[in-house]
Amino acid sequence: MALARSRAAIQIAPDNPKIAVVMVGLPARGKSYTARRIERYLSWLGYRTGVFNVGEYRRARFGAHRHSFFDPDNASGEEARWRAAMDALEDMVRWLAGDGQVAIYDATNTTRMRRARVRECCERAGFQVLFIEIRCDDPTIIEDNIRSTKLSSPDYEDADPDEAAADFRARIAHYERVYQPLEEDEGAYLRVTGAGRGVTVRDVDGYLEARLVFFLMNLHLSARPIWLTRHGESVYNASGLLGGDPDLTPAGRRYARSLAEFLDERCPDHDDVVIWTSSLKRAVQTASPLDRAPWAWRALDEIDAGICDGMTYPQIKEQMPEVHTARTADKFRYRYPRGESYEDVIQRLDPLIIQVERQTKPLLIIGHQAVLRALYAYLMDKPPSECPRLELPLHTVIQLTPTAYACDEQRFELPPGLEGDGERDILPSLQPPPSG
Ligand code: F6P
Repeated sequence: MALARSRAAIQIAPDNPKIAVVMVGLPARGKSYTARRIERYLSWLGYRTGVFNVGEYRRARFGAHRHSFFDPDNASGEEARWRAAMDALEDMVRWLAGDGQVAIYDATNTTRMRRARVRECCERAGFQVLFIEIRCDDPTIIEDNIRSTKLSSPDYEDADPDEAAADFRARIAHYERVYQPLEEDEGAYLRVTGAGRGVTVRDVDGYLEARLVFFLMNLHLSARPIWLTRHGESVYNASGLLGGDPDLTPAGRRYARSLAEFLDERCPDHDDVVIWTSSLKRAVQTASPLDRAPWAWRALDEIDAGICDGMTYPQIKEQMPEVHTARTADKFRYRYPRGESYEDVIQRLDPLIIQVERQTKPLLIIGHQAVLRALYAYLMDKPPSECPRLELPLHTVIQLTPTAYACDEQRFELPPGLEGDGERDILPSLQPPPSG
């Protein structure tokens, strides 16, 4: 039942055991959302990560249920739910004992007794336990969660939406009767209160756990578009050369003007959008007609082709056949001599992902083929190993809008704009990226 996907190359430090992340909280507080976001982030970074969702075990074994099944006074319901929870736990422990690295146990775990059992099982097997409790008392957020995720659950197949929502509220009330919030003597935990408004941390130790704290502190639920685009066509693109720091061609400059029109239509108020470029000329020049000051990030620079920088693919094949063969065999892991691999690119983009998550305004990222493939893989929840072959053509804007569990995608192939001729072509004043 685990959703583990990537074949990880990243090692957990020997002094940092495998981790069981144990979710805690009432229904409709965003536990599954948080579990999936952690899974997406860590899988993208290369850790073998799996989610064990007890609700799925329950439905697979006992079918769909309405609220009375969750009544703590319903003995057969209690028994079935305990069984599903223990089956998921056993599978998770077995998976972690094998090649799993981080498991996320996605369940309410609302009682001390249940949490003690989960913790004991994991610690006995040598895994570190980190509880993540999600607390939220905001009725609007809870109702939104019910409407956006619970009504599409197999528990409510073919049910009237209002009737299903009322049933789910009754289910929450059953859990409220037995809920014992996490206490300080229960081990390491991270508590998120009010949809990411506050994070409390206790006894958290270890590199990966610290990264999770940082990640969760920056998650929020505001939906805003993220636009990804490669720079306009460069002189190197036109001749099939890799890398370098070339200027745009006339066609590339026309694309930059089309991009400005695209953005003006969507964000007429210049303060309503954040623009990032790499530090390379072709990306900075593409931002030039936007008339807004972009942030230039070195982390967004194109994959470093090392000794192949400035060559064409046919030249590499002819002059360095071993590079061509090795890269074709494993494009994701292959590191150009004195350059980078896709795997390296993902590691250098990690801090940038935190910044992407923090943004609440629409965000336009003007980058390059390989770096944008890596960002796209994160945002669209693609296995990282697929990213070297994702299609990201020139002169196309990819619009990604976060939804409950991933992103909606739309692509805009922009018609070439007119050749630039005026103020809008003046190079923008670059700002260094924001710190923190
Ligand atoms: O060709 C444009 C480019 O951005 C090069 O600078 C870069 O080396 C290449 O794309 C990355 O794509 P791939 O990994 O498919 O070679």
